[in-house]
Amino acid sequence: MKTVLLGVTGCIAAYKACEVVRGLQKAGVQVKVVMTGNATAFVGPLTFHALTGQPVATGFDWEGPAARVPDGSGGAGDPIPHITLGQSADLFLIAPCTADVMAKIAGGIADDLLTSTALAATAPLMIAPAMNVHMYENAATQENMAKLRQRGVAFIEADDGYLACGDVGRGRLADPDAIVAAALEALAAKQDLAGKRVLITAGPTIEPIDPARYISNRSSGKTGFALAAEAAERGGQVTLVTGPVALGDPDDVETVHVETAREMLQAVEERFDGADIAIFTAAVCDGRPEAFSPRKLKKGADDEALGRIELVSNPDILATMGARKRPGQVVVGFAAETEDLEANAAKKLSAKGADLIVANLVGEGRAFGTDTNEVLLVSSEGAEALPLMEKTRLAAVLLDRLAVL
Ligand code: CTP
Repeated sequence: MKTVLLGVTGCIAAYKACEVVRGLQKAGVQVKVVMTGNATAFVGPLTFHALTGQPVATGFDWEGPAARVPDGSGGAGDPIPHITLGQSADLFLIAPCTADVMAKIAGGIADDLLTSTALAATAPLMIAPAMNVHMYENAATQENMAKLRQRGVAFIEADDGYLACGDVGRGRLADPDAIVAAALEALAAKQDLAGKRVLITAGPTIEPIDPARYISNRSSGKTGFALAAEAAERGGQVTLVTGPVALGDPDDVETVHVETAREMLQAVEERFDGADIAIFTAAVCDGRPEAFSPRKLKKGADDEALGRIELVSNPDILATMGARKRPGQVVVGFAAETEDLEANAAKKLSAKGADLIVANLVGEGRAFGTDTNEVLLVSSEGAEALPLMEKTRLAAVLLDRLAVL
């Protein structure tokens, strides 16, 4: 599901933002709202809270009785909402946007949550201005708009007509339907993976001890599933090979369910040569019990076997495929580390024959099972740190990089 962060600023047209919320929701888009203090004088945050079911961000504190969403996702208890808000959305739409807020954004001023979010946002920015005709035509406003356009900000032009102040001219907020249509067009998935075959491994593997017991790990599969869904939306022909996870199969993705590392290797080997991009997110168990007991091991009688489970190494799926890579194929690995992130990731890059390693720290509640991740992209060209973001957004950012390789 796509997310629009809707910025509402202090202007008589603020009430029309409610219609924008509704229009986006009807199109299946999730909406979160951030308001300036002045905007709250025109429409109460509770209105947007009721419409969106989401906490409404009005400052560096949160308002709204149900303001309970996990840390790191731009919700209650989030210590850095100006970072997380604009990075967890697919589009930051400011409607209506006053001359003052536009000027601040053009000047890089970040003196409240909305303008700080605009400065920190990685999502594309779209602005629907609304103001008095003379403010609109003022050279300062026009220069600010030109500056923002040059930086890639999209505008939904204000309409001509009768303005709240009694003047007639350009400055009236564009029709909410037109704003919704422009936002939906901006959200429409790029088809930059059309014609590309994408192979993704995900989730943990489980390595059985006996019919009732197994060894596994804490992988949730969320990153691999997010990548698969995003790649399919962008036109890729996607195969997802996954260990057992509590997630539904993504739409338009061939999903192959496996349990053990050896089953995962086999499924990948059958498909790797046809893939243009192969992404290995799975947390494959490094070892498996040397012997599988076809009957359940019992306390007492089997204490010795239960107390000493000998492990043998599993095949390294990424390294096996990295060695088999043909020119033109792009191979991406992940690295979960508790220390020396960059050095360990660089080692995995060369040892496993990958073109890119997406490295993250694990432990102390990080990455495993959460909806967010903060990663370092390590390639032969060096390391690039990405900020903390939702795994769905990380999938989009990662595929942006891979689509142009
Ligand atoms: N991987 C794999 N097959 C394995 C082990 C790992 O395909 N048997 C892949 C993972 O999918 C990931 C990358 O290799 O893309 C690195 O996995 P990670 O668990 O971080 O590293 P390991 O190789 O297991 O090394 P270590 O546990 O020593 O850090």
